[in-house]
Amino acid sequence: MDANEIRKKFLEFQVKRGHKVIQPAPLVLENDPTTLFTGSGMQPLLPYLLGEPHPDGKRLTDSQPSMRLQDIEDVGDPRHTTVFEMLGNWSLGDYFKREQIHSFFEFLTDVVGLDPSKIYVTCFIGNEKYGIPRDNESAKIWQEVFEKAGIEAKIAEIGSAENGDKRGIKSGERIFFYDDHENWWSRGGGCDSTPIGDPCGPDSEVFYDFGEDKQDVEKYGLAHPASDGARFMEIGNSVFMQYRRMPDGSFEELEHKNVDFGGGLERIAAAAIGSFDVFKISLMKPIIDKLEEISGKSYDNNTDEMRVIADHLRGAYLLASQGLVPANKAQGYALRRLIRRAVLRALDLGISDNFLPAIVPVVAEIYESLPDSILTCRENALEVLLREEEAFRKTLNKGLKELRKIAKVSEVLTGYDLFKLQDTYGFPMELSVEECYREGIELTPDYVKEFEVALNEQRERSQTASKGMFKGGLEDHGEQTVKYHTATHLLLAALQKLISPDIAQKGSNITADRVRFDFNLDHKMTADEISAVEKQVNEWIEADLPVVFGEYDKKYARDELKAHGQFWDKYPEKLTVYTVGDFDKPISREVCGGPHVEHTGVLGHFKIKKEESSSAGVRRIKAILE
Ligand code: ALA
Repeated sequence: MDANEIRKKFLEFQVKRGHKVIQPAPLVLENDPTTLFTGSGMQPLLPYLLGEPHPDGKRLTDSQPSMRLQDIEDVGDPRHTTVFEMLGNWSLGDYFKREQIHSFFEFLTDVVGLDPSKIYVTCFIGNEKYGIPRDNESAKIWQEVFEKAGIEAKIAEIGSAENGDKRGIKSGERIFFYDDHENWWSRGGGCDSTPIGDPCGPDSEVFYDFGEDKQDVEKYGLAHPASDGARFMEIGNSVFMQYRRMPDGSFEELEHKNVDFGGGLERIAAAAIGSFDVFKISLMKPIIDKLEEISGKSYDNNTDEMRVIADHLRGAYLLASQGLVPANKAQGYALRRLIRRAVLRALDLGISDNFLPAIVPVVAEIYESLPDSILTCRENALEVLLREEEAFRKTLNKGLKELRKIAKVSEVLTGYDLFKLQDTYGFPMELSVEECYREGIELTPDYVKEFEVALNEQRERSQTASKGMFKGGLEDHGEQTVKYHTATHLLLAALQKLISPDIAQKGSNITADRVRFDFNLDHKMTADEISAVEKQVNEWIEADLPVVFGEYDKKYARDELKAHGQFWDKYPEKLTVYTVGDFDKPISREVCGGPHVEHTGVLGHFKIKKEESSSAGVRRIKAILE
């Protein structure tokens, strides 16, 4: 059964069970400031999950094109995609766990024809902090289901995914209990990250087993349903949406208990053909085939590049055919980014001429069966995409020409040269570096630092210019920006400490009046998170901590001092590290050129004025010192 057939059969199956087919929402949501794109089928149904009656009744179904740009860096592996279709069925206060679990299993095994012995499931272990009980009910229903299919189904207590990586699966185990990082669903993630006001609840996920031999144990640890690695792939998630997060952070039971089911169409289709690589399914393979044809290269030897291109062009096509055009911010920027990333990867394959005219018609054919009500501008899509490809290739060519010109007259290229190429010609620094390696053009050892110096100088120039224009330039500009610079380090440290150690700086812009700070995070910060971060930064300011710096070898700074840095592979061998607080137990330690204040006590009061989306997967904080 191919993907189009699975979509059709799913909707038919749900209609037979009394569901009404509803129109999927567009990818670009007009009235939802919390997110750039529709990322799941439930998003357009929020009010109904909270109790408002839906005009089509209590049983609804659809297949919702969804986009999750937070996964963009993972695209290239066998399963991550930025765009996918989510098969959905909803019970708005109607049926609950028993009917949902039985019917999804029936769909997978009887309709799609999956081997039941390859199906593994997970349930929610409960959360003491919020008094949310363990979901024994779902586990019991799953035991019945497996028993009926003649499959032994022991229960395993896993808790966190990391536990599972160490423990693996013991004989006969099939139902796995995990904590709220795995088996709780809200638009923000686990219990702590559930947005105030949102519906949420425990979920029960279904995984397909592609075989023990698929697991790279050294890289990912032992296989278990929620592990990374290629053995298990999640193919569907039944959320038992029975709570709502209250303004005081607690969870209140909803009057109506809902089911919010989401199944990954591409992933179910991959399981149906027994391929752990979703790029082999009918919604992807024609694009890969075309890429092989025009590049003359094979998928087997150029897998990552071809996956990225196939994924990004599917996404770009869907956006453009919904009327979006490339732009420098918000959704338009996401579209621009998808196209540009695809063009860069095509360059890696040796495709240096416009290739969208060959690929886009293939993508359009794949999506022929999606309704016109979503793809309202399909006939313009190719032109919109091609215009962007042409403009980007022109930029690239100009930059490349200029780079070669500079290389001819100077023996070695500096970071200042690379900055000029980026600033004047829009030719990204990373591409310059790659080109230099490829062509054997020498770079100065300090080119990264030089690049940053040039960037900062340019920022300062433009700030002084605008300050002169608007404010008359009376304050001591330098002193204020230095304070903001130190505050930025404290802010990053607080985000890492309180929200996630994986948070990294994605950009910052300081003026004498505020700092604007970009960082990776997959959700909008909650009010609680914002006030906790603010409080932490102010505590560190009040503690009047020392700020010291020193010059170190790169390896020492990274491995011994554990300094935070973004560009380790590009830094020069000697670099400056700033430490805030006790040297042996620092609050913050970053690779940084400075300057900074000497004591945090001079910073004043730190206040976050705004937290918003900057681009996909990147949040932006604007903060001031009062
Ligand atoms: N809303 C659920 C999800 O996105 C089904 O996984």
